[in-house]
Amino acid sequence: MTDVDVIRVMGGARLAGDVSVVGAKNSALKLMAAALLATGRSVLTNVPRITDIAIMAEVLRRLGCEVEQDEDRVIIDVPERLGTEADYDLVRRLRASICVLGPLLARCGHVRVAHPGGDAIGSRGLDMHVEGLRRMGADISGEHGFVIATAPKLHGATIWLDFPSVGATENLLMAAVLANGRTEIDNAAREPEIVDICRMLTDMGAEISGAGSSRLVVDGVASLNPVEHRTVGDRIVAGTWAFAAAMTRGDVTVHGIDPGFLEIALDKVATAGGQVDTAADSFRVRMADRPRAVDVVTLPFPGFATDLLPMAVGLASVSEGSSLVTENIFDGRFMFINEMSRLGADIRTDGHHAVVRGVERLSGAPVTATDIRAGAGLAIAGLCADGVTEIRHVHHIDRGYPSFESDLRGLGVEVERAAAPPDQFDF
Ligand code: EPU
Repeated sequence: MTDVDVIRVMGGARLAGDVSVVGAKNSALKLMAAALLATGRSVLTNVPRITDIAIMAEVLRRLGCEVEQDEDRVIIDVPERLGTEADYDLVRRLRASICVLGPLLARCGHVRVAHPGGDAIGSRGLDMHVEGLRRMGADISGEHGFVIATAPKLHGATIWLDFPSVGATENLLMAAVLANGRTEIDNAAREPEIVDICRMLTDMGAEISGAGSSRLVVDGVASLNPVEHRTVGDRIVAGTWAFAAAMTRGDVTVHGIDPGFLEIALDKVATAGGQVDTAADSFRVRMADRPRAVDVVTLPFPGFATDLLPMAVGLASVSEGSSLVTENIFDGRFMFINEMSRLGADIRTDGHHAVVRGVERLSGAPVTATDIRAGAGLAIAGLCADGVTEIRHVHHIDRGYPSFESDLRGLGVEVERAAAPPDQFDF
C-alpha cells in the first residue's frame, strides 16, 4: 500500500452479506489525547488501524510518550514530564492533533501547537477553542504559525459556544477536568464521540455531568488516573454501508454499531424505500427497488452527519426524482461534486444547497478523492455505474476506513488496488 494507490471498483454490484465496523477514528484520536491527562499506562481498544491513528501516535511520541499499536489496541505510556510542542509537519497531516491543546495546557501550563489551517472541506476555524480556553484563564497568542497558550493554572468558567463544535467541546472538556473549580460548557456538541470521551474521562476520575446533552458541567479534580477504554463504534463507516446497501439495491447487515447513532440517516434510507431492521449492536438494510429521492440537511448530532453527505449525494444521484441536499457544517464539502459529475451524476449546487436529479445509471470513470468521505462516496457511487470506476488519491479513504476494499469484497464487489501510473503523482 502506498500513498499513490488507486482502487478500481466494478459497477453493477449488489452488496449483500455482513460487515463489521471497529471503533470510530474521530473518537479514538481524542481518546489518545485524553490519555495525556494522566501519568502512566492507558490502553485503548477497538481502535481502527488507519493512518490517522499512526500519526496521532507519533504526535504523542514526540511529546515524550511511549506508544505501541498491537492489533486493535493502542497502549500509551505517559511520562510525568511531557513535552509541550506539536509541530506543523505532523499537524498539517492530521488536523485533529489540535486536540492536544486542552490536555497539554491543563497538564503543563504551557503549549505550542502548529495552527492546522483549513483543509479540503473548508476553512475550519479555531476561535471557539481559543475563546473558551481564554475564559478559563489562558493567555493565548498566534505566532509564526503556532497557537501558543499559557496558563499556570486554569480555572473554571461558563462558556457558551456559538456553534456545537465537536473539536472545541473536546478541547475545553479536556482542559476543564483538571481546572480549579466548575466549568459549564453550553451549546456543547452531543456526538456519540463526545459521550465516549466523557466516559473515558469519568473512568479516569473526572467529574462530568450532562454527557450527550448540550450542557456539560465539569468539576475540576487535582489529578486523573490512567485507564483501559473501549472506543465507541464508527457510525460514519456504518452509515456508509447503509447507503451503499440502499444504492446497490442490496441486503447488508452492519455489526458493531448502536443504530441509535444513525437514527436520521437510517430514516432517510427507509424513506428512500429501504427496509431497515435494528438490533442492539447492529442493523440490516434491504432495498428491493430503485430508491426514491429524499431531501437531506446536515446538522450537528443528532442531525444528519456532514460526514455522510457524499453518501447522501450518491443515493440521490441514482434515485427516482430530485433531491435537495443542504450542507450546514463545512463550506468546502461540495468540492467532490465535480468528480460525481464525471460519473454522470446530474447535480447543480448553489451555495450550500445541491439539487440532485437522479439518473437511472451512472457511468464508470476515473475520479479523484479530495477527502476521506468524498473518496468513500465516489467509490460507492462507482458501484452503481456501468463499467469500472478508478478512484485516485486513495490515501484519503485509508485515513478513515480501515478495511475498505476487503469489506467491499466481502459484500460481493469486484475491487482491486494498484499503484497509480506515474502521471498521477501530482498531489
Ligand atoms: N468552527 C469554527 N470555529 C471553531 C471550531 C469550529 O468556526 O473554533 C467551525 C468549523 O470551521 C466548521 C464547524 O465549526 O465549519 C464544525 O466544526 P467542528 O469543530 O464541529 O468539527 P471538527 O471538530 O473540526 C469533527 C470531525 C469531522 C466532522 C466534524 C463534524 C474529527 C477529527 N473530525 O471535526 O470529521 O466532520 O467534527 O461532525 O473529529 C472526517 O472524519 O472526515 C471529518 C471531517
